[in-house]
Amino acid sequence: MPTSAESKPSIQTIAINTPFTDQKPGTSGLRKSSKQFESSHYLESFIEAILKTLTGVQGGTLIVGGDGRYGNNRAIDVIIRMAAAHGVRKLITTTNGILSTPAASHLIRSRDAIGGIILSASHNSGGPDGDFGVKVNGSNGGPASESVTNEIFSYTQTLNQYKIVNASAISLTSPGQHLIGEMIVEVIDGIDDYLALMQKIFDFEKIRGLLNKDFPIVFDALHAVTGPYARRLFIDILNAPSGSVRNGIPLEDFGGGHPDPNLTYASKLADLLLNGKDYCFGAACDGDGDRNMILGQGCFVNPSDSLAVLTANAHLVPAYADGLLGVARSMPTSSAVDAVAKDLGIDCFETPTGWKFFGNLLDANRITLCGEESFGTGSSHVREKDGLWAVLCWLQILAERKCTVSEIMTNHWSRFGRHYYSRHDYEAIDANAAQALYSRIETLLPRLKGEKLAGNTIKQADNFCYQDPIDGSITKNQGLRILLEDTSRVIIRLSGTGTKGATLRVYLEKYTNNKDELSLDSQVALKSLIKGINVLGEIHERTGMNQPTVIT
Ligand code: G1P
Ligand code: ZN
Repeated sequence: MPTSAESKPSIQTIAINTPFTDQKPGTSGLRKSSKQFESSHYLESFIEAILKTLTGVQGGTLIVGGDGRYGNNRAIDVIIRMAAAHGVRKLITTTNGILSTPAASHLIRSRDAIGGIILSASHNSGGPDGDFGVKVNGSNGGPASESVTNEIFSYTQTLNQYKIVNASAISLTSPGQHLIGEMIVEVIDGIDDYLALMQKIFDFEKIRGLLNKDFPIVFDALHAVTGPYARRLFIDILNAPSGSVRNGIPLEDFGGGHPDPNLTYASKLADLLLNGKDYCFGAACDGDGDRNMILGQGCFVNPSDSLAVLTANAHLVPAYADGLLGVARSMPTSSAVDAVAKDLGIDCFETPTGWKFFGNLLDANRITLCGEESFGTGSSHVREKDGLWAVLCWLQILAERKCTVSEIMTNHWSRFGRHYYSRHDYEAIDANAAQALYSRIETLLPRLKGEKLAGNTIKQADNFCYQDPIDGSITKNQGLRILLEDTSRVIIRLSGTGTKGATLRVYLEKYTNNKDELSLDSQVALKSLIKGINVLGEIHERTGMNQPTVIT
């Protein structure tokens, strides 16, 4: 029974004079500066559009939580009061508003919710001068489909008022039940359900055995949402020493850092593993807990390789012991997983960038694992990528195989060959310059076939277009591809998630199964491709940058 009840709150209708114009269509949410979100009626307008668009709002259950960044709890309060005004029957949120994206996906599925609203700008920085975001997930637990986000967008174009109840903010400091008008607000611990799910997937006893041996690990939560999950998981349940979790307290501005688990933004962790001898395994997750970076001593695991290794070793994880239905990767992700899928005799799908495309394949039971080069890996257990799940997969495999991370990699490459891979990001460049650069290459594409790049003949050059194998829908313009005869590839995309200027992403891939060439530095192995595309795309001249901001 509810522990507290508001006296019947009144519903207010607030008129908006300035139209809401800048939600980008086709994205699963809204990501903008915190300042923008603080401007009058901005957050409220977007929430109104969501509540008007999602199916089943009236009488339905909604999951709400976020990564703890600046603006998190204010947004939860606004959503609670607007949901009550829109007739939601039950809203489930979490203590201190902390809920990782994969945990939200699980709650949506396990509580039969109509969907969820996740407050996060993922790996973007937070705080009053950072970014904030509102993501919308559907009833399958995954990012809302393109048709829903397009509908939300069109609703924002005509919206001129929103509904909200007048009630004081509910305390999120401890679990409990509250009533706002007719709506039940359940505040639950956002960690319990997720960790219970992990215990069903993995053999915790085995992992505990590994961590209790001479196998010190370090996890960096980057002061973001995974801190409380990781402390409970690694220290309380798996008995790792308390120092195993770094930066485990969520902070509104992530301690001034950038909660993106890559070699640039998690450089302290990278340094501990790549240059130190204290730890055998290191990992980090991003702001909202869906991304992961895996490191071994002296060894960085490229995310594309990580997906391939997880696929090749999935049978060692209890939940996947019976084999995989199939796998999928985003188009720019390397073909390392394709080689494993071929060996296993299972399907391997190539989808556009973004998790929502995996959702249809997962829902149709066509795949079990999927992943992206951008540090995202996941499985059918939820409909989002899942950072801590990926870390547990690695630990389970290490516990079974009783070897080091770098041995796993070396064995993998000698068995399947190595797909050298790198992504070069040019961040915060002038948006017009980026568009001009991209359009120029796009115009060149039809003429590139038969030409040479990095000494190789170009076999195909196009703009990736995807036909969904389940619903037949077609998604165009998903990235410029230059495919070479020796199976090397270069992909060019403009980011859809950056908030400052434009971000150009250049993805480079080259395969070898020559035993003498399996342990080169990636940048060295890809040198001629890098040079070739820089010249062809006039990248340095047009971005005004001599080198990328982030190299992965
Ligand atoms: C980036 C990644 C993409 C990922 C998305 C959300 O998008 O590249 O793989 O799905 O973040 O985490 P982008 O900025 O490239 O559009
Ligand atoms: Zn994220």
